[in-house]
Amino acid sequence: MDKQIILLPGDGVGKEIMESAKRVLNTISSEFGHSFTFHQHEIGGDAIDQSGTPLPEDTIKACQHADAILLGAVGGEKWDSLPAYLRPEKGLLGIRKTLGLFANLRPVKGFSPLLDASPLKEEVIKGSDILIIRELTGGLYFGKPSERREDGEVVVDTLYYQRNEMERIIDKAFQSAQLRNNHLTSVDKANVLESSRMWREIVDEKSKDYPDVTVEHLLVDAAAMKLITQPDQFDVLVTENLFGDILSDEASVLTGSLGMLPSASIRSDGVGLYEPVHGSAPDIAGKGIANPLGMILSAALMLRHSFGLEKEALEIEEAVSQCLEQGYHTPDLHMKGGQEVGTKEMTEMVIDNLTTNSVCEQIGTM
Ligand code: NAD
Ligand code: IPM
Ligand code: MN
Repeated sequence: MDKQIILLPGDGVGKEIMESAKRVLNTISSEFGHSFTFHQHEIGGDAIDQSGTPLPEDTIKACQHADAILLGAVGGEKWDSLPAYLRPEKGLLGIRKTLGLFANLRPVKGFSPLLDASPLKEEVIKGSDILIIRELTGGLYFGKPSERREDGEVVVDTLYYQRNEMERIIDKAFQSAQLRNNHLTSVDKANVLESSRMWREIVDEKSKDYPDVTVEHLLVDAAAMKLITQPDQFDVLVTENLFGDILSDEASVLTGSLGMLPSASIRSDGVGLYEPVHGSAPDIAGKGIANPLGMILSAALMLRHSFGLEKEALEIEEAVSQCLEQGYHTPDLHMKGGQEVGTKEMTEMVIDNLTTNSVCEQIGTM
């Protein structure tokens, strides 16, 4: 398989973990006989420094013609005082919107060696396996441009959704539930927000088209509590943009670290951008200790969702699981025992497991 992949490392740890994903994909391409060609472009603070804008035209063009996109992270203190339209985050929001990547899939599934790495009790998190589906191109993030009145005393952010923007993400969530355990939790704030009341109506209307899926509505405040007290009660969780942003960082606690979570941002034709859920982690950037697994697992999601390479995606997930079973972990994972390693060593271990597994498979078929 011949694929053109755009790499947008971005800022902070984004650059460090992108290197890991690239090396893992190179291993997959040589083990499975694929040809992945990488094209690196700027986004975020990096792009502001090089080209004066967080989302240069050539980055947009390259992404529009790519088979898939991998993104590291954007943002950092250096650019925090710039006007809103010039911030690194605007680059990320811009590429999501321009490409129409409305469905953000954030799987939250713990690896068993990390059960004791979470501050939550093992009996609480055991068996949890959640797919958070976050609407990604609407809501408060993309309402009318935010305003601050001249005297500085009044601000306005607008939450804007069209019915069809809600319908398509809710359909996606029902379809995802059908491929999993047929349970959908819809999260909103229908006791306060009109947008949430419309969201809830649409979920109820759509549930008639998916009679095999059981539906539960939760208010977002209660959902936040239930996520870390009864996580095994969730299968697919669907929600709007801002709630999904917050709940997914919270849910990462189930897995032991924010550094573990991958994500896929896709549209109906399968075109996708893949990135870890975490940010540029300025507090550890440049130290060589960032956890590369969220990024590596995002590359696996790319193989699965954009290229249909299920076996290759599973191989990566299996290699990650084996590294953790062998006790290797970056410092963000508070595992009892095992060996603490940096980004590069962790990546080496994933690659070692990938190559060993494929040699074993070859011997097995001889
Ligand atoms: P963050 O996700 O960067 O970091 C939160 C905490 O998690 C930090 O303590 C960090 O060290 C830790 N962490 C994150 N990723 C890790 C990894 N791979 N390995 C080990 N530890 C990891 O969130 P923040 O500090 O609130 O934001 C920093 C910057 O990142 C901001 O500019 C923000 O806008 C940006 N951001 C970008 C994205 C993105 O590009 N998708 C996502 C979130 C935040
Ligand atoms: C994420 C991030 C982004 C978001 C920021 C950096 C704009 O937090 O991808 O989760 O809020 O969507
Ligand atoms: Mn976030």
